[in-house]
Amino acid sequence: MPAPLVFAHRGSSADLPEHTLAAYLRALDEGADGLECDVRLTRDGHLVCVHDRRLDRTSNGRGRVSARTLAELEELDFGSWHPGCPPGDDPDTPPDGAHTRLLTLERLLDAVTAAGRPVRLLIETKHPSRYGSTVERRLVEMLRRYGLDAPGPGDPVQVTVMSFSPLAVRRVQELAPALPTVLLLEVLPRWLRLGRLPFGVRIAGPGINLVRARPQLVPALRAAGHRIYVWTVNEPADLDLVLESGVDGVITDRPALVLQRLGR
Ligand code: G3P
Ligand code: CA
Repeated sequence: MPAPLVFAHRGSSADLPEHTLAAYLRALDEGADGLECDVRLTRDGHLVCVHDRRLDRTSNGRGRVSARTLAELEELDFGSWHPGCPPGDDPDTPPDGAHTRLLTLERLLDAVTAAGRPVRLLIETKHPSRYGSTVERRLVEMLRRYGLDAPGPGDPVQVTVMSFSPLAVRRVQELAPALPTVLLLEVLPRWLRLGRLPFGVRIAGPGINLVRARPQLVPALRAAGHRIYVWTVNEPADLDLVLESGVDGVITDRPALVLQRLGR
């Protein structure tokens, strides 16, 4: 069984503010195979990389992300809440504002396409049901603009789209059939007892709590021919568990720690 791919969850988000350019560049420096990010829509229809529905935890703003325009969000500080953010950002660390500025999906795609090395990008759509299919349509349009909607085996940037919503995953498959998808799983749905994912999804994304609680799940998914990316694996004991179970990807806030334990 080959060693699993290591994905930085929201960037190197244990050390630096999540979803900032600095956190993603750090993860690439540390040698992560890939990056995970969440995307949601602004009021004026832009895709931005923010996990929570509200701004309160990760910025100096208040209220819902979807109630603000991109221009309004650009005014906020998305880094100073985190202990790893250099005071007043770091003027000596280009690009300017990397630790504090809102990250748009566009800026993240610019960064990964300019990285000069292979990068796997896992993009999770948040709250897909609230906006009909707008999130998936905007996402696929943007990936198409970058030529990332139909990855070939030799392409340096490989995008995979993830969601907890089977409906959102299906929409992505309809809009971009060549794009790999991950169905994220927090609990075990009744229909997954035999480990078979619905409508052609090839990658399962169970949470570490689910893997711990249901030891039969990973073998069943493997037996059904699925790949498995587990989130969010930060503790050494959890890493040992997923390595023993044989998974294809580990999504972690601490890519440097995981890479070190893998001897990379
Ligand atoms: O990578 C999947 C994981 O990110 C799902 O949970 O809440 O961190 O987006 P969450
Ligand atoms: Ca996520």
